[in-house]
Amino acid sequence: MRTQVGIVGAGPAGLMLSHLLHLAGIESVIIEDRSRAYCEARVRAGLMENWVAQMLIDTGVGARLQREAMVHDGIFFSFRGEAHKLDFAELIGKHVFIYDQKEVVTDLIAKRLADGGQVLFEVTDSSVHDFASGTPKIRFKHDGKTQQIDCDFIAGCDGFHGVCRPSLPADSWAGYDRVYPYGWLGILSESPPPEKELIYACHERGFALFSMRGPQLSRLYLQVEPDEDPDRWPDERIWDELTTRLGGVRPLQRGKIVQKGVTPMRSFVAEPMRHGRLFLAGDAAHIVPPTGAKGMNLAMADVRVLSRAIERFYRRGESDELESYSTTALRRVWKGQRFSYWMTSMLHRPSGEYAAFDMKRQLAELDYVTSSRAAAVSLAENYAGLPIE
Ligand code: DHB
Repeated sequence: MRTQVGIVGAGPAGLMLSHLLHLAGIESVIIEDRSRAYCEARVRAGLMENWVAQMLIDTGVGARLQREAMVHDGIFFSFRGEAHKLDFAELIGKHVFIYDQKEVVTDLIAKRLADGGQVLFEVTDSSVHDFASGTPKIRFKHDGKTQQIDCDFIAGCDGFHGVCRPSLPADSWAGYDRVYPYGWLGILSESPPPEKELIYACHERGFALFSMRGPQLSRLYLQVEPDEDPDRWPDERIWDELTTRLGGVRPLQRGKIVQKGVTPMRSFVAEPMRHGRLFLAGDAAHIVPPTGAKGMNLAMADVRVLSRAIERFYRRGESDELESYSTTALRRVWKGQRFSYWMTSMLHRPSGEYAAFDMKRQLAELDYVTSSRAAAVSLAENYAGLPIE
């Protein structure tokens, strides 16, 4: 098989890249080791920055988003038994969108297939080769047959556990990481959320987040131990703990829990995000702790930069933007890391030697961001999405 850009991974990064390239008249093939049904069903963070929603709309994949996404003009912080709203619409004139990552993936798969794109699901044994040369190759098995894609570029959009990053020569990149001593127990519940916008609750028993997927569908999270066994959390215990941590600022209605899982919390960045003709994008290159939900948004920013660089290469024969892809993408990635780290450390119950000090500092931080306009604007512009270069 021959194509211009071989893409490993059919998550938001790989699919959006393929879509943007198609609009620029550039061919790509996506391979994915999971099934289409799995990709379309996996519940992930549901918060979309303003410009990402706009990009989906502007490029013709936003029709369902425009019908179904919830548009929020701010968030609430709950602490010391009070709820404080940060009104992004008033502070910076921007909204955020609640639309689960799996819906983005579903819309993009449908669009790629409708536009004649090739997305090969359930491939096995994928590997990437010769990307230091001008003739990269992707090998894999599909329908029992070994296949090869010859391409000009490979995009590694295959997530943190994918094959692309480990294929880079060990001395060609460095990893920067930080593990947090927290996990999130996330549930999906058939019950109305306690507010029409999100509540981030800082409580002495730990952090809790009250999000949603619809008027009768709540997405709720509790800070737990990083290696927490979800089986230690029967439904009653989850509801009692969520109620306590909400601190009485709103009534919490209980419902049927239809999904439950633990998310680890980690920061990681691989630098540079490129080696020869292999470009990493999204979780393959960086992951953030979930507080603030920057993961998919950063992935979308990567592929926007990458698609433009590739387009410039084919249109004008110029590779300067390919050369600077990593530098450009990393500038935004590190701002996303900083914000996610900061939100995480402001809201989670600390442990260790300085826990008592840190708890006081967190309350001061929350007081500050909910009372100073300058601090609130800073939070809002990061949360709703920094301007895209
Ligand atoms: C959601 C997840 C987050 O981590 C966040 O900060 C906001 C929303 C969510 O899944 O809805």
